[in-house]
Amino acid sequence: MKFDFSKMRALVCGSTKGMGKATALQFAELGAEVILVARNKALLKETIAMLPTINNQSHHFICADFSKPETLEKAVNEIVTKDNPVHILVNNTGGPPPGELVDSNLERFYQGFSQHIICNQILVKAVIPGMKKNKYGRIINIISTSVKQPIKGLGVSNTIRGAVASWAKTLSNEVAPFGITVNNILPGATNTGRLTSLFQHIAKEKNMSPEKIKEEWVQMIPAGRICEPEEIANAIIFLASPFAAYINGINLPVDGGRLSCL
Ligand SMILES: NC(=O)c1ccc[n+]([C@@H]2O[C@H](COP(=O)([O-])OP(=O)(O)OC[C@H]3O[C@@H](n4cnc5c(N)ncnc54)[C@H](OP(=O)(O)O)[C@@H]3O)[C@@H](O)[C@H]2O)c1
Repeated sequence: MKFDFSKMRALVCGSTKGMGKATALQFAELGAEVILVARNKALLKETIAMLPTINNQSHHFICADFSKPETLEKAVNEIVTKDNPVHILVNNTGGPPPGELVDSNLERFYQGFSQHIICNQILVKAVIPGMKKNKYGRIINIISTSVKQPIKGLGVSNTIRGAVASWAKTLSNEVAPFGITVNNILPGATNTGRLTSLFQHIAKEKNMSPEKIKEEWVQMIPAGRICEPEEIANAIIFLASPFAAYINGINLPVDGGRLSCL
């Protein structure tokens, strides 16, 4: 299999750090024109300068905060149109803050729903007309293994992730006849800023060191190590390619075997 995304445009959200950034770099390396999305303009500019331009392709960015969906809607509709479509959409943003359900206030639920479901829906509405026109579309959602097995201490996140998975499965049925697939990546513990801050949070609660928490987590992973963001990107690249045309509506764990269910 030879991956070639020349002549394709990929809109990759949450792409200045972690898995989103690793994914954007790989798409650009494989010839795609990439549109980055995040909040921090300086980091967007820094990241865009790092993207390969093997086809002399030009890359773009959208500076938007997913906690304010109306600003995202305006920005995405300026850059994505039926005549200037994207072929690949990677839905990804910061995860809801940790905490037990019983301690979570309603604001966290509204925020999580807005940031994950409402923004995904806005992005999908913007990209679908062009994907239909091209008879090619790949929508890939970075969610979490909590879709299959709730993670202790991530109450709001577990709840919202399940909703995103259900939204995605429903959408996959609706758009399949147009050559569009919708799939979910369920990352395990992955070496990014999000994981570092999660280890720090748990360490503080348990009065232990973050290194000890990491050690405990690694022991639960059959692969015996934390995932690298590039390994998440590898799975996304495959799902985004023409080779994955018949894979639709699935949850793909990339977790080193940590999930104990099938
Ligand atoms: N790392 C893990 O172990 C792990 C495991 C399972 C699931 N996940 C989930 O996978 C997703 C990506 O995780 P990651 O570890 O790659 O995270 P990360 O390294 O913290 O990167 C998050 C990216 O999203 C952007 N972002 C955050 N909040 C945003 C907002 N309100 N609006 C727009 N952009 C926003 C960030 O840029 P700005 O801050 O500049 O906006 C950044 O580019 C998250 O939902 C996370 O919860 C992570």
